[in-house]
Amino acid sequence: MMYDSGEVERVAGQIRAPFEPQVGIITGSGLSGLAEEVEEPLVIPYGEIADFPPVTVEGHPGQMVLGHLAGKAVVVMQGRAHFYEGSPLGRITLPVRVMRALGADTLIVTNAAGGLNEGFKAGDLMLITDHINLVGMAGHSPLFGPNDERLGPRFVDMSGAYDKELRKIALEVGDELGLELRQGVYAMLGGPTFETPAEIRFLRLMGADAVGMSTAPEVVVARHGGMRVLGISHISNMAVGHPTKKEEGLHEEVLEAGQKALPKLLALIKGVLGRI
Ligand code: HPA
Repeated sequence: MMYDSGEVERVAGQIRAPFEPQVGIITGSGLSGLAEEVEEPLVIPYGEIADFPPVTVEGHPGQMVLGHLAGKAVVVMQGRAHFYEGSPLGRITLPVRVMRALGADTLIVTNAAGGLNEGFKAGDLMLITDHINLVGMAGHSPLFGPNDERLGPRFVDMSGAYDKELRKIALEVGDELGLELRQGVYAMLGGPTFETPAEIRFLRLMGADAVGMSTAPEVVVARHGGMRVLGISHISNMAVGHPTKKEEGLHEEVLEAGQKALPKLLALIKGVLGRI
């Protein structure tokens, strides 16, 4: 692990939050508009927070937004750094450590993902029930190195990483809003390449319902720190062996689809926040 508790406290101490946030939220590709709903926001660009990872991908503003959403004190990471951008995973996940240090005990993590399950369609929202951390399985973890027991235990139980109670609440909220939520397993790849057709067949065989390039390391760190996690994937496209229909490329398609999905994702998250 790259940061010990003293270093995390030092970084978190730079953020003069006027209140203690209860919930941390990470906005995925095309979904950064979520943070625009935060009331009386205090906005801090990552560049002003020591050691925060640079965010270089279009669609990820790279700022921390503190304020209130649906009456809850929240800290929103408006955009995230991805492993493929080059920072070590310890640094990629530092924002999660900082959210925890500021007081957040719950993490709502969102992402854009390619749909693998044939029953899905582009535009669906999927509650993440579990993940397959291919990057982790290949030997990259934000927890590598000496463990600081003040941050969490050496060995982390990842069964039940995606909190059952939070999923139940999300399903109830979805029902009330008339949103048909999907549920499934998210596979994380390193990216930045999209998958080959053979890789898509492989991912389906291993039981993945959606595929993306983020989230798993953040959830590992959140669970290490004892946070409850709700994960929501926006199925921005079906991973059917591309190419995209968009001339500008698949990333543009992902961002555009996110814009369209934003209202229902926002309603879902606000509904969940109202009940936790
Ligand atoms: N593959 C990987 N990551 C993604 C995709 C995809 O098809 N869509 C959005 N993120």
